[in-house]
Amino acid sequence: MQLIQTGKYSRVHFDAARDLFIKTFQPKRFDRLRYLLRIRPYPGRNFSLVAARLEALGIATPTIVEARPYRLVTKNIHGVALRERILDSPALQDQYLDALIAFDRHGIHCRGLHTGNFLVRDETLFAIDLDAYKLPRLVRYSRREYLDCLSRSLAGDEAFLFTRLLDRLGLDEQYRPRP
Ligand SMILES: Nc1ncnc2c1ncn2[C@@H]1O[C@H](COP(=O)(O)OP(=O)(O)O)[C@@H](O)[C@H]1O
Ligand SMILES: [Mg+2]
Repeated sequence: MQLIQTGKYSRVHFDAARDLFIKTFQPKRFDRLRYLLRIRPYPGRNFSLVAARLEALGIATPTIVEARPYRLVTKNIHGVALRERILDSPALQDQYLDALIAFDRHGIHCRGLHTGNFLVRDETLFAIDLDAYKLPRLVRYSRREYLDCLSRSLAGDEAFLFTRLLDRLGLDEQYRPRP
């Protein structure tokens, strides 16, 4: 088993023999309590709920092999990070912006929508890291926060994508509707 990445509250391993990615969650105590009290879905369960919602919107997601509260196993997408491909591909730029606009329209919130959290296979975009997404609840998550996170994620070479996103949403730099 090969360690791929250690996050603040999760770890990702790759099982080469089975060609699977295994993500385990070690949340802080406060979050464990929130899961226990059903205030928020367990990360593994959240991943499944988000995957189903995204698939319904026509956005590809990894195939889930096992979803437990604190353990999630997915099939290897065999893709490359969107980050490596997006600058050279107008078609992928459009797919990425389409996804971001669909999330905004449907109130799907996530603070980690950078181009490292999408993979590309056969020119198709796959959304990964879905445990970090939040599906809409009674009260909508902050649109300003959603856009602020994206503006920070899309820096440097990718900054033009944020400009295009605001254009397509009909918003100015202060996120006000354009006249
Ligand atoms: N199903 C998958 N197929 C291919 N690569 C994956 C898959 N799941 C995770 N990865 C790889 O593992 C990395 C970390 O997974 P991710 O869910 O984004 O964890 P983190 O929350 O630590 O960012 C990804 O950037 C990707 O390279
Ligand atoms: Mg990630």
